[in-house]
Amino acid sequence: MKNTILITGGTGYIGSHTAVELMLAGWDVVVVDNLCNSERLTMERVASICGQAPHFVQGDIRDAVLLDKVFASYPISAVMHFAGLKSVGESWQQAAHYLDNNVGGTACLVAAMERAGVRRLVFSSSATVYGQPDAVPIPESAPLRTTNPYGRSKLLCEDMLRELQTADNRWQIALLRYFNPVGAHASGLIGEKPSGVPNNLMPYITQVAAGKHPFLRVFGDDYPTVDGTGVRDYIHVVDLAKGHLAALRYLEQEGKGITVNLGTGSGVSVLQLVAAFTQATGIQIPYQIFPRRPGDVASCYAATDLAREALDWRAKLSVGAMCADAWRWENLVKNMQE
Ligand code: NAD
Ligand code: WQD
Repeated sequence: MKNTILITGGTGYIGSHTAVELMLAGWDVVVVDNLCNSERLTMERVASICGQAPHFVQGDIRDAVLLDKVFASYPISAVMHFAGLKSVGESWQQAAHYLDNNVGGTACLVAAMERAGVRRLVFSSSATVYGQPDAVPIPESAPLRTTNPYGRSKLLCEDMLRELQTADNRWQIALLRYFNPVGAHASGLIGEKPSGVPNNLMPYITQVAAGKHPFLRVFGDDYPTVDGTGVRDYIHVVDLAKGHLAALRYLEQEGKGITVNLGTGSGVSVLQLVAAFTQATGIQIPYQIFPRRPGDVASCYAATDLAREALDWRAKLSVGAMCADAWRWENLVKNMQE
């Protein structure tokens, strides 16, 4: 068997795209996912893109026995850890569950890795750890502070993993701080499937385009930004997936950990994204201005120097491609539901 990468949360949005890129690059992949926010079918879709399916184990990362079995069954050389709950709103209602799943799950995973002697880890962190930034673009050295239980769970995981690496230099850990992942695989076969009404902007736009909502609510037009609407660093999920391969290469070659932003370095406002969507698809998105959403920051985009210099990686896909690919995927979801 080839060297294998364990992907936790691999039937999810970012994990499935990363599974594709790993397999296309020749890696063997085993996925562990409890399917709490994804479907088994995604593995078949990954197989249609790559020509072969990843190994799939349905289970929870808090199940130590299951993890030991997985490490004993495959020649795993590194873990990419995506499994987690990610809704900011839900994290206020279910704070204990978020801590248990995200922080407890990560602790259980690293304990199993330690038992198996696998100490190379790529972790899904988030720009949410920067909270309300003092300035943009945000460098990795910016102060860390979070504003909600989800963000706190990511920061606690980062703290735990930093501690582990400091205490034992055999550990090689990449903390990847994602900005705003959007879009879908160009095949239209895999993408993001929000449960219920989406909180995030891009899936809401595609659902308005599909006629599922009459208009987009734009949360605030009085921010100190180019047009008054919130500015974010949208990154195509395929670029993000490739960033994971670059991080894995870094760990292998440098033999030490890294904390790095994965973003494009460019800020795009809500109304700019709406205009880009119309340009890419020809579909008008009706919108109405609503009050600011509590907890939102005006502007958030990445300093990307470290990713370029250390990982030799940069995001390449345009905002137009993000919109076109998100829309192709939305159409597939729509057809599946009809
Ligand atoms: P997702 O919900 O699509 O994927 C997460 C996957 O993890 C799902 O398939 C879910 O079933 C699985 N999972 C959750 N808890 C599990 C557990 N205890 N055991 C096994 N499987 C479990 O989310 P995503 O957008 O692909 O995000 C992946 C990771 O990236 C998450 O950790 C998230 O916090 C982080 N992240 C996401 C974003 C974003 O905007 N999507 C931004 C920054 C960071
Ligand atoms: C983007 C912009 C909204 C919806 C969230 C999490 C963060 C991270 C990614 C995981 C903002 C505006 C949105 C809508 C709108 N996830 N908006 N109408 O808030 O930057 O980040 O997802 O780590 O933790 O907080 O992304 O897509 O929700 O919002 O006007 O219906 O779009 O106000 O300016 P956000 P988003």
